Amino acid sequence: MCGIVGYIGKKEALPILLGGLRDLEYRGYDSAGIAVLDDGKIKRIREIGKVDFLVKKIGQQVIKGNLGIAHTRWATHGGVTVPNAHPHTAGEGKLMLVHNGIIENYRELKKELKDQNFESETDSEILAKLIYQNYDAKDKDSLLKAVKKTLPQVRGTYGLLVMHADHPDELVAARLGSPLVIGIGNDENKREYYIASDVTPILPFTKQVTFLDDGEVADIDLAGLKIFNIKDELIAKGITKIEWDKEKAQKNGYENFMLKEIFDQPAVFEDAIRGRINMKEGTAVLGGLAMTPEEMRNIKRIVIVACGTASYAGMIGKYAFERLADIPTEVDISSEFRYRDPVINEKTLVFALSQSGETLDTLMAVREAKRKGATVRSIVNVVGSTIAREAGAGTYIHAGPEIAVASTKAFTNTVAVLLLYALEFGRLRHVTLATGERLLSGLLEIPGKMNRILAEASKIKIIAEKYKNYPNFFFLGRGINYPMAMEGSLKLKETSYIHSEAYPAGEMKHGAIALLSPDFPVLAIMTKNQLYEKMKSGVQEVRARKSKVIVIATEGDEEAKEMADDIIYVPKTMELLEPLLNTIPLQLFAYYVAVGLGRDIDRPRNLAKSVTVE
Ligand code: M6R
Repeated sequence: MCGIVGYIGKKEALPILLGGLRDLEYRGYDSAGIAVLDDGKIKRIREIGKVDFLVKKIGQQVIKGNLGIAHTRWATHGGVTVPNAHPHTAGEGKLMLVHNGIIENYRELKKELKDQNFESETDSEILAKLIYQNYDAKDKDSLLKAVKKTLPQVRGTYGLLVMHADHPDELVAARLGSPLVIGIGNDENKREYYIASDVTPILPFTKQVTFLDDGEVADIDLAGLKIFNIKDELIAKGITKIEWDKEKAQKNGYENFMLKEIFDQPAVFEDAIRGRINMKEGTAVLGGLAMTPEEMRNIKRIVIVACGTASYAGMIGKYAFERLADIPTEVDISSEFRYRDPVINEKTLVFALSQSGETLDTLMAVREAKRKGATVRSIVNVVGSTIAREAGAGTYIHAGPEIAVASTKAFTNTVAVLLLYALEFGRLRHVTLATGERLLSGLLEIPGKMNRILAEASKIKIIAEKYKNYPNFFFLGRGINYPMAMEGSLKLKETSYIHSEAYPAGEMKHGAIALLSPDFPVLAIMTKNQLYEKMKSGVQEVRARKSKVIVIATEGDEEAKEMADDIIYVPKTMELLEPLLNTIPLQLFAYYVAVGLGRDIDRPRNLAKSVTVE
């Protein structure tokens, strides 16, 4: 989720690069850097923090040149430090590279490199070194050739841009899984190109762009732009005219960040599981756990601490750890945890879940758990955040920057990581290879299934429009869908300000059912799992009180359709994986109700994205 900018032409590159970085800051801004070819030598400057800090560092230095690359970083590998900031270099400063994405096999590649002088902890630096190793100074076409030779050696994702001091008229770009756009300058005679990870920084200069597709490599040369496909054939790519303004471009064309982030989920889910699956052994590989199999077997209890949406992800983790690993697991709301006497000892593993990694209540819970001798691990989105640092070890969920206050993609990615952990623990206990393989195959199918639900968003919009004026809502679920009911209810509350409550369906008859009436609609999560029949009875009880019922059901379930006033179908998946799909209609429902009521979608009233007060 980092940002890339590049320029080649006749203008001064530096102001274009810095302006572009500012436009991309919304993608993440823990550090930034530029490299410009100035009189045959590349000048590189990097700084941690916002782009303004980089500008300050550049200060009065004169950097002149018409070719340059730049990057704003959202850390994935390695902490937030200047050496970890891009551009990365090889060949004593001759080659510079900026990279978005994750190189999965960077550790193996690192061992094979001739140049073992590394200045960073990043996977991206390995890529720079490898391209340089494949570069032949005697061949004038070698920059392009070196990139092409390197890419098949790499496993993972990339959007990359490379420059070389001996190639003043050339930049090479490549894409696999991480977007890159090339803007074609307005003056054809002058020939100039603007390159970026999205169109935002390009729009002030040109509306004519070419989007690179996966597997493509672009030789961006002042003599002309050449694009090669995955089979290394020279192809003619169409030019798209962009009509968006800058704000819309940052949201990738969506009306607001919440909708963009809901639609981001299939792609970022892949980032959460990438490189963490060992299909052969039917298990997960989460380096961040930093525990030996022996230590993992010694864990007798798991405690998950988290707030809000992260705590509902934690509850799904509880089901997974208990079912797959037979480890008693509790979920504690962080703000309560340190004010009671939690039973914690050296055989307890505490997971602290937090998108921001800065939630004060969760941070305090981490400190309390460490004080009591527990092993603490974080599952966090923001790299280098306080919780990640204080926990000492843990796993990043790789959801990319989440800007809307309502958490969406961070929820799915946290659940993904918890499921992988539960499987890893489970495989050291009773889970069979076949079960492990089935779960992993199920996970790999999730992005495709998410896309199928997202394709039906307009149907959910119609349902939301119908229900938006009810003042109250119930969300019902059972088993693993009970936390989903809570998550759906929270999403509706915080985005639309409608009062809603979540209940395990079987509990309604113990009191809450008294509230039901035709004015009190119910959203029931009734997907086909082991509690399906029980859930059906719950829905019948609701219908008997004449409440309107929206049902989330498994595709093809005709019975559910008959019971529902409105139905939303989701594809079938394994029960443990259902939350990864069921969350999407819940998010969309809350979103469209809030839109219908004219709410401030990305910044709902009274809330903050990161809650750093008690
Ligand atoms: O950054 P964190 O995950 O620690 O934040 C926890 C909650 O504040 C957060 O999930 C909150 O409930 C969201 N607004 C829910 O959408």
